[in-house]
Amino acid sequence: MKLVRLRKRGQSAWLSLAGALFVSLAGVGNAHADGDAGRGADVFAQECAGCHSVKENKNKMGPSLFAVVGRHCGSIPDFAYSDALKQAGFTWTPSQLDAYIAKPQKTVPGVKMPYGGLDDDKARIDLIAYLASIRK
Ligand code: HEC
Repeated sequence: MKLVRLRKRGQSAWLSLAGALFVSLAGVGNAHADGDAGRGADVFAQECAGCHSVKENKNKMGPSLFAVVGRHCGSIPDFAYSDALKQAGFTWTPSQLDAYIAKPQKTVPGVKMPYGGLDDDKARIDLIAYLASIRK
């Protein structure tokens, strides 16, 4: 009897731990400040650096992502954006970036960024923390 009770208590401890984890993971979606910029730098190197630089005024196939958080979309003067991005008329906030990086074509229809999207929520949060750290 005693053993059974112990095992039950053990199970409910696991359940509440799982519950706590779920709640904290669910909270992460809105809290980009929790991202790890160091890990985000690695995500950037793997996923984005082939087409984007974070150096000011340095465009590659894609526009420079220097200080992109807070920047108006399609606003680098010497970059030949698609009409979609030039006319979209929004500012890159962390949540806008999150949606865009997850599904570029769905978020900005007609965008010419040949990238399928990054599914991993945590990787996106880290990546955005990194991008937010690249500023003047
Ligand atoms: C294969 C090349 C390629 C890859 C990989 C790529 N991009 Fe892009 N990106 C582009 C191009 C090209 C554009 C311009 C799109 C347009 O004008 O429609 C762009 C545009 C953007 C913009 C809009 C910038 C502005 O000035 O409005 C952001 C933000 C962006 N990319 C972020 C990312 C991030 C973050 C990654 C990595 C997860 C990434 N991109 C991966 C090519 C790429």
